[in-house]
Amino acid sequence: MSVTTRREDNVGYVEIDNAPVNAIGLSVRQGLLDAVRWAEREALDRVIVSGKGGMFAAGADAKEFDSAPVEPHLPDVLNQIENSFVPWIAAIEGVALGGGAEIALACRLRIMAPNARIGFPEVTLGVIPGAGGTQRLPHLVGLTDALNMITSGKPMSAKAALEKGLIQTIHDEPNYAAFMVNTEELGCIVPTSDLPSPPVDQDVLNTARHHVNAKSAGQIAPLRAIDVIEAGLNLPIQEGLAVERKAFLELRSSDQAKALRHIFFAERAAKLPNDITAPPITLEHVAIVGGGTMGSGIAYALLNAGFRVTILENDAEGVERAKENVETIVSASLKRGLISEQEASDRKDRFSATTDYDQASDATLAIEAAFESMDVKRKIFLTLEKHLPADAIIASNTSYLDINELASVLQEPLRVIGLHFFAPAHIMKLLEIVRGDKTSDTVIATAFALAKRCRKIPVMVGVCDGFVGNRILARYREAADTVFMDGSTPWEIDEAMVEFGYAMGPYAVQDLSGLDIAHANRRRQDATRDPARRYIPIADRMVELGKLGRKTGAGWYRYPGGEGRVDDPIVADLGIEEAHFAGIERVEYSADEIRQRLLLAMINEAADLLHEGIAQSATDIDLVTVFGYGFPRWRGGLMHYADTLGAAEIVKQIQQLAKEDPVAWKISPLLKQCADNGTRIGR
Ligand code: 3HC
Repeated sequence: MSVTTRREDNVGYVEIDNAPVNAIGLSVRQGLLDAVRWAEREALDRVIVSGKGGMFAAGADAKEFDSAPVEPHLPDVLNQIENSFVPWIAAIEGVALGGGAEIALACRLRIMAPNARIGFPEVTLGVIPGAGGTQRLPHLVGLTDALNMITSGKPMSAKAALEKGLIQTIHDEPNYAAFMVNTEELGCIVPTSDLPSPPVDQDVLNTARHHVNAKSAGQIAPLRAIDVIEAGLNLPIQEGLAVERKAFLELRSSDQAKALRHIFFAERAAKLPNDITAPPITLEHVAIVGGGTMGSGIAYALLNAGFRVTILENDAEGVERAKENVETIVSASLKRGLISEQEASDRKDRFSATTDYDQASDATLAIEAAFESMDVKRKIFLTLEKHLPADAIIASNTSYLDINELASVLQEPLRVIGLHFFAPAHIMKLLEIVRGDKTSDTVIATAFALAKRCRKIPVMVGVCDGFVGNRILARYREAADTVFMDGSTPWEIDEAMVEFGYAMGPYAVQDLSGLDIAHANRRRQDATRDPARRYIPIADRMVELGKLGRKTGAGWYRYPGGEGRVDDPIVADLGIEEAHFAGIERVEYSADEIRQRLLLAMINEAADLLHEGIAQSATDIDLVTVFGYGFPRWRGGLMHYADTLGAAEIVKQIQQLAKEDPVAWKISPLLKQCADNGTRIGR
């Protein structure tokens, strides 16, 4: 039974019972409808609806969205609840999201536990509220707040919900508070739909549209939500609900909704592979070598997850810098209200920085986050081996280097793993877990357990230069530089990728991270680079000119006064010059052509990663590109996007490009295979 009913005197208790999150699928909808009939038959004086397990309801069951809707539909069930002569009260613990919040709106009263949250995250799944949210919410909170809640998808605390008029009461025991409501007073409360609509306010609507265009460019659902909310303001409730339902059903089967569902479920499915059954070791104290931006970000992520953290540094100056870096993140988190004073001081209590490796002698995990040099890292590994327990895990945060080579310096290479965090490490959700040839299952299981505790998305990858993410990134940048040299400008390329859905194009991103890192990497790769492969020298010229990005006031763009960026004609000239030196006749690329080259280069590389077994699945590549590299979430990740093009079409287009440069555009065998067999790429 997904909905249980129980009667005590004249009060009916209806409990949604659909673990783990009380998603509202067919059986819950049917159960709620049956409960309406039951309460009326029994002539109860109220129904108190709640969710089992301290969770009201996480919304409609998104797993049903790939199939045709089945009756009873949620909007009809909620109409029955709202119009029943037995008044319903929502007693909310945990979360009431999407359809869950819509159940609450159809009730006469809403009571929340102090730490409960309520919201409408539908747009994050590419849809809009489809069971009255867009129509009933404005009646309670007004137009501005309804637009904010629905277009942002962000849930609200009980306190905020009370202030906005969305709920009537906060109580530690919502069921008890609902029981205590005076029957007569309850009878006088009008249904939400009967409350007056707020007036149409074009200024407010325009501001909301403007905001959505800036924040969620390219996404259909938030704009559609505004249209539907606006339509409802002038329509009788049933007509407004019909407009909403039509839009919801259209969006539900849209490409964007499919892509967002894919990422939603992929994120949750990112777990330890089933064939690894070894239990993780217990972690309490973690040592981090290096307290720079990366090391201190990792330290804070671990402090947030409850670990004791010691940063190990070379000298007193390094120790001071590490302390300052961590302190800055703690203070910023406090200032932004992400943690309380008490939580800030608790994090500081669990943190230390020192040059004395013996202070980490009981650490069961060490993460090396030092300078990207094999020699430096080798030395650190050997020192850690001397000072840490013999079974402690020794990890490297390297972005490119060979984990197997690093492991080989230790007596027990099975204790070594790559933990590739992304900067800023306390914010970015992706964690590439790099499995060395000898890494033990226990170590892998511990890495996944660590990711879970830090609320990161773990993706296991194999050893190669750059692993999954940076190898794809290298091809993306190479394709961008080639397009630049052969005819475009960095700003045209950036604009084309922003139009595709990236928040920033490849050049603006490089200016942020600094051009020196990629430069050092290119020098490292000089010895092994395929001499037949075309080399684009523009980025090296930039470094020679001291244009290292924002930190030097100029990179691909100029940043006069350290502020807003401007295009730099000197940079554009570098492309023209280099093309001239190479005897290349430049061409003008359209935005579509730019996108085609950059995206196909990434897809081809990703297919190679799958073919070589470095990436375990196409879905893993989707997670890496979305959560580590800014690929638009609403396109579902690189390989989900590739599937929308189809392997045959991709192969055809790459074959065309290979006429210009057969080395750079060497088609991945996996793509060919999928094109020949008519299958999806790597799925
Ligand atoms: N539909 C189907 N399954 C869902 C689901 C949903 N709406 N929400 C969560 N789940 C599943 C997850 O896939 C996961 O399954 P698994 O155990 O097999 O991997 C399981 O429930 C637990 O989910 P989480 O790992 O996310 O658990 P957390 O405790 O970390 O988070 C949560 C709980 C905050 C409820 C989070 O799951 C969440 O945000 N869910 C989505 C909420 C949402 O977007 N609701 C709107 C749905 S659309 C809608 O309601 C339309 C309506 O207007 C008609």
